[in-house]
Parts: sequence; structure tokens; C-alpha cells
Amino acid sequence: MTVFTGCDCDNLMRSQFYVILCSLVPISALLLTSDADALQVIGGSVTAVQGGTAILPCYVIDTNDDLTQISWQRKTREKPRNDNFLTILPREGAQFVNGDDDRFKYIGNFNDKNGTLQLSNVALKDEGSYTCIFTFFPSGNQKTDIPLKLFVPPFTSVKDNLPTLGTEEVLFATCTAAGSKPPAEVRWLTGALGDKVKTTTNSTQYDNDTTTTVSSLFGVPTREINGHQVQCVISGDSLSKEETLPFTIQVYFSPTEVNIKKISEDSFECVTEANPNAKFTWSRSGQPLPQPGVKVEGAKLQLLSLTSDLNGLYRCEASNTYGKKHGQLYVHVVSVGASAAAWALFGVLLSLNVVGAAVWYFYKLQSGGQP
Ligand SMILES: *[C@@H]1O[C@H](CO)[C@@H](O)[C@H](O)[C@H]1NC(C)=O
Ligand SMILES: *[C@@H]1O[C@H](CO)[C@@H](O)[C@H](O)[C@H]1NC(C)=O
Ligand SMILES: *[C@@H]1O[C@H](CO)[C@@H](O)[C@H](O)[C@H]1NC(C)=O
Repeated sequence: MTVFTGCDCDNLMRSQFYVILCSLVPISALLLTSDADALQVIGGSVTAVQGGTAILPCYVIDTNDDLTQISWQRKTREKPRNDNFLTILPREGAQFVNGDDDRFKYIGNFNDKNGTLQLSNVALKDEGSYTCIFTFFPSGNQKTDIPLKLFVPPFTSVKDNLPTLGTEEVLFATCTAAGSKPPAEVRWLTGALGDKVKTTTNSTQYDNDTTTTVSSLFGVPTREINGHQVQCVISGDSLSKEETLPFTIQVYFSPTEVNIKKISEDSFECVTEANPNAKFTWSRSGQPLPQPGVKVEGAKLQLLSLTSDLNGLYRCEASNTYGKKHGQLYVHVVSVGASAAAWALFGVLLSLNVVGAAVWYFYKLQSGGQP
């Protein structure tokens, strides 16, 4: 207790008509005066977003009583039992009682009978009720409770369930809003897909009152649905604005039929469909490619010279994580007599892992003055 000198009888009289005003931002002030026996305290509540700053306002008006001390107590998730944590004295200022917590800052003014506190980096553990207590001489203590409510924004994500081509309905993706308080709303915007897709939503509430909400997107994984854009929208009081997560439905499949296409007189390209895109590997009769006679660039094979040592069965293998397939190309360089022209015989063996049908075709190579 601070030593208090003097007694102002005028103040003593007026002390019967004071009011402690405590309110939230925005102030829901409601001034009520009454006699000391039925003192009206103005209260309110504060809400803050996790990680943000909360102002715990508390002040007194309409009194000329002498203020000797302001103290703060709390009952929070972290400290469920009434915890006296801060005392503010006229000369010494603010002092922590049971250990320092630098997140609290006294921003009021003792002379103005203002006990307002600022709490930065608010966490869920701080949620609860704060009590500010004014000690007056000679009238004693007056207090009010300030509930602090926390909003916890969720962690949001979309997870691709990696569906593979099929005819049965499967899970395409899940959209999650994890650890939100209050619970977040999660929904899918599927636009033109209409009833080709279905959604379900599940939520789990934890002991700390945060909730994880998961919305699942289902459909038949066809080629047609592959590549469609959808959006997951997450909203709720814990978010200052709606969050939109775009998602492209992907249907995954191993390389389909592998075709080898002629792209110029001496170059060929291996063509297939796959998701994700296939990687291509060229080889000749199970051996490395003749060097420096051919050049390979991804799916493309170029014959750099037209000589018989390039002859053979070339194989292009297309693969991704879901599987592989190959196609074959038969190269045979034919010299026709002493003429200046060379003939090449290309056989493209379309294969479905096992050699299937063979397509053969011939064309004349312009030897461009080669002997
Ligand atoms: C009390 O202090 C706070 C923080 O400085 C201030 O915002 C508020 O206006 C003060 N209240 C009164 C009634 O002086
Ligand atoms: C949602 O919850 C229900 C009931 O608990 C459960 O059967 C279902 O598998 C859940 N769905 C997802 C996608 O988690
Ligand atoms: C709440 O509890 C869950 C489950 O124990 C935990 O994963 C999450 O981090 C907690 N949230 C907060 C804000 O403490």
C-alpha cells in the first residue's frame, strides 16, 4: 500500500458517485452513476487475432478519490487459477508480480486513473478474463472484468490425392483449414463441372477449441475432367478476408500408345500421352546409340549421317511414375546401285510393350549431291 497523505472531505463526498469504466475497442460506453453501495461498472469484451495486439482498456471517471494502486489479475487457459500478475504504483510504475511477460505494456496513465494494458503477440493461452482493480483511499477497491477472446486463423492447404485414370468415383483432392477458432467454412467452387463432382465436409474439434475442417472433392477420374480448374474457398470470423485456393484437377496415367513420327528427312519424334509428362529414352537394339552418328534431344532422334552403320532397330521408351511403354523404329539405309540417291527404309513398330502391329513405309532421301 502506498502511503497516502491528506484527506479531502470534498472528495470523500463525491467518491459516492464514481464510475469505473472498462470497455472494449470500439467503446460500448454506457455511463451509469449510482451510489457507492451499488456501483455500476462498465464492462465489455476484447477480441484479438492470434499474433496480434490486444488493448485491455480500464479506467475510472467521475471520482476525486485518491488512487493508490492499480492491479491486474487474470484467469486464462494458461493460468486457470486467479493469477495476480501486475501491479501499478504511482511512483514505481508497473511491476510484474509472478514473473515478467514483456508482451504486456502499461499504456495507461496513473494520474488519469487509467490502467489500460497492451498485450502484444497474443496467443490462445492468453484467452480468458482479465480483472483490473483500482484501490482508492478511502473507499477501497473497485474492479471490473474484461474478457479476452481469441480468433485463431487456420492453416490452409489443398492436397492432391493423385487420382489415376478410372471409371469409379474416387477422391480427387482435400482442402483443409487446420486449427481455426472459431471453425472456418470450407467449400469448393466447381463451376461448370456441376454434378460431375461431389463434395463432403468433415471437421474435428480439439481440446483447445480450435477446429480442423476438411472438405473432400470426389469424381470419376476421366480424361475429360483432367485439367479442370476448381477453387477451394475458406472463410470465417478468424479470417479477415476469404481465402481462395485454386486447384487443377489432374488425372494421372502412364504413357499411352507410343508413336514415332517423322518430323524431317532425317529426324523422328517419339509421341505419347501421359500425366505427368513422359520422359523419353532412345536406344538401339538394347545397346547404346551409335555415336557420333545420331543426336538425341528428349523425344527427338536425328540421324546425322546416312550410312549403313546407323542401321538397326531403334527403341523409344516413354515413362513416368505410373508406368512405361515403348515404340520402335527400324532404320535401314540402302544404296541403290551407283546412283546418287540413297534409300532409307523405316519401319515403325507400334508396340504395347510387346511388339504389336508393324507399319512400314519408304521414302526417298534427297542425298543432296552425296555420292
Ligand atoms: C487510457 O489510456 C489509453 C491508452 O493510452 C487511451 O487510449 C485512453 O484514451 C485512455 N482513457 C482515458 C479515459 O483517458
Ligand atoms: C468424415 O467423417 C466420417 C465420419 O466420421 C468418416 O466416415 C469419413 O471417412 C470422413 N471423411 C473424410 C474424407 O475424412
Ligand atoms: C490446438 O490443439 C491442436 C491439437 O492438439 C494443436 O495441433 C494446435 O497447435 C493447437 N492450437 C493452438 C493455437 O495452440
